[in-house]
Amino acid sequence: MSYPTRSTRSLLSIDDLSNSQVIHLIERAQQFKKNEIQAIRPAKPLIVGMVFFEASTRTRFSFEVAAHRLLLHPVVFVVDKATSVDKGESLHETLNTLLAMRPDLLVVRHAGNIRLEEIMRKSSIPVVNAGSGVEEHPTQSLLDAMTVQERLGQIEGQRILYVGDVEHSRVAKSGAKLFQKLGAQVAVCSPKDLAVRDSNVQQFNTLSEALKWCTVCIGLRIQKERHSQATNLSQGQYIENFRLDNKNLAALSSSAIIMHPGPFVPDVDLSDEVLSDSRCAIHEQVTNGVYMRMAIMGDLLGLSYT
Ligand code: NCD
Repeated sequence: MSYPTRSTRSLLSIDDLSNSQVIHLIERAQQFKKNEIQAIRPAKPLIVGMVFFEASTRTRFSFEVAAHRLLLHPVVFVVDKATSVDKGESLHETLNTLLAMRPDLLVVRHAGNIRLEEIMRKSSIPVVNAGSGVEEHPTQSLLDAMTVQERLGQIEGQRILYVGDVEHSRVAKSGAKLFQKLGAQVAVCSPKDLAVRDSNVQQFNTLSEALKWCTVCIGLRIQKERHSQATNLSQGQYIENFRLDNKNLAALSSSAIIMHPGPFVPDVDLSDEVLSDSRCAIHEQVTNGVYMRMAIMGDLLGLSYT
């Protein structure tokens, strides 16, 4: 499989993938999930560097589990008090330093730093974007697409709804691009202050109207750490109008599904009761994340399977 838009094989944006590459990755991830294929131990140990300049639980753990399942050697670097960043080193110099050690693949998450983006784009070592700024989270979009495909049988024709803080959500922006590319319709329902600007997607004013329309409902966290200015929205108003709970979800069809990239804030964006709703696919998303990341890393490293 080749990634023709750049000199090296990397996955930095959902735009890097053609439809057939997306379909191939979903099929490959499903083969891993069904235990139909297994990685053959590479002739020399392959090192996957994982650099997290920003907080992460499931994405980081998921990449690590995926790397071990592929018999790779993950080396994780989380920026904290024990690193040179704390001594004043710039993030881009830290990234250049890690690349100079020549891992076989690098997985990077960052808060949206242009210098880091440039280095990742020019890298001769393949790089996977594990979430950057408010725009891109390609591996999350792919695992979300896999989950929809698995639960609903197809992606084309689905009506995908993102609820909540869409403006600051790289999950929603990346996901919207992918779902539209695969023939689904995308809409959003968000508070005015957190609505996506210059959007080419349908906007719903009320959650009940939006939930009646969709076949896939994806909740989002209020991503306060990405807000450049304070919103006028109170938590009470948000809970009343946008929280996914049993009361609001009564408007959602029984054949629709509920997703959330996590982390969710209990009783603000999602209430715990939703986790036991038969339409809820949140933990399947997490499970699928491991298989999807195996598919992505395996392809970029050109691994062989039995
Ligand atoms: C998201 C992220 O970091 O973009 N989480 C994830 O990767 N699963 C969503 C969030 O931070 O709210």
